[in-house]
Amino acid sequence: MQPKGARREDVLHVLDQKGGLRPGVVDKVHRETGVPAADIYGVATFYHLLSDPDGGVRVCQGLSCKMAGCDRLMADLRSRDTKATYVSCLGRCDLAPALWDPDGEAVIPQPGLTASHDAMAIDLLGAERPAYGALAAVMERGSDWMVEELERSAITGRGGAGFPAHIKWKGVRSQAEMERYVVLNADEGEPGTFKDREILLRRPHLVIEGLAIAAFTLAANDIYVYVRGEFGRARESMETALAAARRRGDLDHLDGLRWHFVDGHGAYICGEETALLEALEGKRGMPRMKPPFPVEKGFRGKPTLIQNVETIACLPAIVDRGGDWFRSIGRREAGSKLYCISGHVRRPGVYEGPLGWTLRELLEAAGGMVGSLKAFSPGGASSGFLPASKIDVPLDFKSLQKEGSMLGSSGVVVLNQSADMVEAALSQAVFFEDESCGQCAPCRIGTQVLRQTLERYLTSRDVGVLAHLEPVMWGMGEASICGLGQAAHFPLQSAMQYFPEEFGVAAPP
Ligand SMILES: Cc1cc2nc3c(=O)[nH]c(=O)nc-3n(C[C@H](O)[C@H](O)[C@H](O)COP(=O)(O)O)c2cc1C
Ligand code: SF4
Repeated sequence: MQPKGARREDVLHVLDQKGGLRPGVVDKVHRETGVPAADIYGVATFYHLLSDPDGGVRVCQGLSCKMAGCDRLMADLRSRDTKATYVSCLGRCDLAPALWDPDGEAVIPQPGLTASHDAMAIDLLGAERPAYGALAAVMERGSDWMVEELERSAITGRGGAGFPAHIKWKGVRSQAEMERYVVLNADEGEPGTFKDREILLRRPHLVIEGLAIAAFTLAANDIYVYVRGEFGRARESMETALAAARRRGDLDHLDGLRWHFVDGHGAYICGEETALLEALEGKRGMPRMKPPFPVEKGFRGKPTLIQNVETIACLPAIVDRGGDWFRSIGRREAGSKLYCISGHVRRPGVYEGPLGWTLRELLEAAGGMVGSLKAFSPGGASSGFLPASKIDVPLDFKSLQKEGSMLGSSGVVVLNQSADMVEAALSQAVFFEDESCGQCAPCRIGTQVLRQTLERYLTSRDVGVLAHLEPVMWGMGEASICGLGQAAHFPLQSAMQYFPEEFGVAAPP
C-alpha cells in the first residue's frame, strides 16, 4: 500500500532530493512513497546521476571531447586528487573537452579554447521577442486553423526521427479521451548535439509560447518540460521566462494550464520518447514497444504529444509568418535547421541555415576546418561516418538517408587527417554500450561485443577478430526494440565501409 498522497511518479524526485543512492535512502523513499524497496533500488541504479551521487566532476568522453583530449584532462584531474568520473556526452561539444561539476554546473573551458556561442546566429527563428502575439493569433483563429498551418509548413520533428508534426497533432486531436498531455523533450544527449541547450538558454520565450500554442490546439491542460539533468541553467532560463510571461499576463487566457518542470537524471535513453514517458512515471527509462504510439497512449496511458525543443521553437514563427513562408526556407525539405558543429573546426557552435545546407556551407559559416577534412558524422553518433567526398551532400533527412546515414539530431562532428577511424568507432561503441538500457538482448549483448572487438583489434591489429561482426550487427539492426540498438553499429559499419585500410581490409579497386 502506498501512503496517502504518495505517488509512483514521485520516486525519482524523492530519490534526488535525498541525494541519490546513499546508505539508507532506498528505505526512506520506500516509506515515503510506498513503492517496494527493490523497485526503488532498480530505478535508482538505472540513472547515472542517482546511482553515483559522489562521482565528483564529470568528464565528457563523447567523440569531440575524446579528440580534444579528455583522457589527458582526466589524468590531470586525478593527478591533483580531484574526484572525477567519465560520462557520456555532456552536450557541450563546443567546449571540448568539457567538464561538468554537479555542485555548480561549472563548465570549465580548457586553456586556449573559448566558447563560441557568439558565433551562433538564430536569425530565421527571429530574435527573442516576448510578445506572445502568435499565441494570441492562434487563440483568435482557432485550433483547426493552427493544424492546417502546421500542415502547410510541412515541418518535421527536429529531435531525430523527422516525423511530420501535423500528423502527431491530428493523432492527439482525434482521440475521444480528453485528458491529454504535451511533453517537451529537452533531454538532448546525442553525442555532437547541443542546439536544444542553446534554444532553452537564448530563446526560452519561443519555447514557452510554442508549448502554449500546442496545449491550446490540442486542448491539453498539462505541459511537462523534461530537461536533461545536467542542463540546470537551461531549466532556470525556462522557469524565469515562464514567470515573466505570467507576470505580464501573456498566458492569461490559459488559466487552467498547468506547467511541470521535471529533471532528467543522467540516462541518454530517456531522450527516446517512450523511455522519457517511463521516466516521467517514475520508472526505469526503458523504451516501450510501439504501437500503441504516445499520441494514443502516452503519459499515464493518455493521448500525449511529445515534441523536440527545436520543433516547438519554430511554432511562433510559423504562425507569425505563415506555413508557406516556413516551407519555402528549406531547399528540398521544409524550414530552417539548427546545425551543431564540433570536432576539428575553427568555430564550433550552433548555426542556423536552410534545411539542406551542405557540410561545405556549414564549415564556411563555422570558420573552416582545422586541418583537412577526412570524415564526418552528420547527425550524432547514431548517423555513423561519411568520408570527405560527401561534403556536398545536403544535410537533410532524405539525402542523408540515401547515403545510408541520417540527419538525426544534426549534431555534426568533423574529423581531420589526424583522426584514427578505429578509435573514432570505438568512442561511439563505448557510448552505446554505456547507454543501452539493457532490456533487449541484441542491443545489450551486441553493443558489448562491438566495443570488445574494437578494443581487441586495437591492441592486436589481428583482422581475424573482426570476422564475426557482420551477423552481430545484422541482429542488432533487425531485432532491437528502439533506435539506440538499431543504429549502434552504424559508426563501426560505416568506418569499415569507407576506411577499410584502417581495419586491415584492402580498399575496393
Ligand atoms: C535513442 C534515442 C534517443 C533520442 N533522444 C532524443 C533527444 O534527446 N531529444 C529529442 O527531442 N528526441 C530524441 N529522440 C527522438 C524521440 O524519440 C522523438 O522522436 C522526439 O522527441 C519527437 O519529437 P520531434 O517529432 O519534435 O522530433 C531519441 C530517439 C532515440 C531512439
Ligand atoms: S534497443 Fe537497446 S536501448 Fe533500445 S530498448 Fe533495446 S536494450 Fe534498450
